Amino acid sequence: MIYLDHHATTPVDPRVLDAMLPMFSTHFGNAASRNHAFGWAAEEAVEQARSRVARLMGVTAKEIVFTSGATESINLALKGAADIYGPKGRHLVTTAVEHKATLDTCAHLETLGYRVTVLGVDAHGRIRPEELAEALTPETILFSLIHGNNEVGTLHDLAPLGAICRSRGVLFHVDAAQTFGKVPIDADAMAIDLLSVSGHKLYAPKGVGALYVRRKNPRVRLAPQIHGGGHERGLRSGTLNVPGIVGLGKACEVAMAEMDEEAARVSALRDRLYHGLLAALPGVALIGHPQERLPGNLNVAFEGVAGENLMSGFVEIAVSSGSACTSASLQPSHVLTAMGIPAALIHGSIRFGIGRGTTEAEIDRALEIVIAQVRKVRQGMPLEPAR
Ligand SMILES: Cc1ncc(COP(=O)(O)O)c(C=O)c1O
Repeated sequence: MIYLDHHATTPVDPRVLDAMLPMFSTHFGNAASRNHAFGWAAEEAVEQARSRVARLMGVTAKEIVFTSGATESINLALKGAADIYGPKGRHLVTTAVEHKATLDTCAHLETLGYRVTVLGVDAHGRIRPEELAEALTPETILFSLIHGNNEVGTLHDLAPLGAICRSRGVLFHVDAAQTFGKVPIDADAMAIDLLSVSGHKLYAPKGVGALYVRRKNPRVRLAPQIHGGGHERGLRSGTLNVPGIVGLGKACEVAMAEMDEEAARVSALRDRLYHGLLAALPGVALIGHPQERLPGNLNVAFEGVAGENLMSGFVEIAVSSGSACTSASLQPSHVLTAMGIPAALIHGSIRFGIGRGTTEAEIDRALEIVIAQVRKVRQGMPLEPAR
């Protein structure tokens, strides 16, 4: 099998696994045990991981809270901020191309009486800065934005959007699940106040993530959403997932050293795939931003071809289709719909997610398979080409 679904999840890097293994056996202690060396060793490893996560986003270790993943980080950021700042105002702003973790959290806040403005996007999947500026009111407490889209790969330019929020006294939360460790993030330069990341998108295991919570200029306060023993400075109770946290830390260290080189390699493979498809097939439409996109993301639609039909012939390659991203019910993706992509193209769209382990030989084999399958489907099912 050729794995081209690195937006869904990534394999654990062997270096990450090596760093984690002792934490299951020799150093199995509880990081909260203050009375013996087992606890101290675990705590030391957690604090080293915290520093590594912090360094990769240009912040201090004290500003990192470990969680179970980006979904939990997003919930803590949005609900935690709403609880604290609700008395100041009950309005949040987000976008139509967010992950469900954000959209559903916002929907929940609406049931509690908060008002949420959902900004539309252009054909590439980006919001317009002037629409953000117009949407902010004196009641607005937070703007939540996806950095790199998990379906179409489009990247938002964070610094100007952060500057708008900062100038209006609105907290800026960024969902960096897909971008952290893949493209540079500097929380200060981008005026980010809260940042959600996920281990399993970055070659660390599933079930670990982190939230950056700014401590200065401004100091951000959040209400905990999980109560208990007061771990993580009271923001997220529960015994720490020491092996997972150590894995996330190691993954950040690896990304810090290799990010630039890997982004260049992965985007070259992505371009090889795209140009190979264009050269062999008519009616290939690129979805998402032509330049400002995740290095490993290629989302293309094959006119007149249903993605589900195509994928049934992809026994050797693992990819995702534009219609199955959000549910098993073949609902067209809310992201592609928000971008104004015609329904026929959405159904013909395939998301390729290239990653650290992907080789040129795999891309060439994937090209052969996809090209052959598109031709087969087109011959057998002459559907109306989409406009
Ligand atoms: C953009 C984005 N945000 C949030 C999440 C949720 O992350 P996690 O699986 O760590 O909860 C994902 C993962 O699917 C994602 O791609």
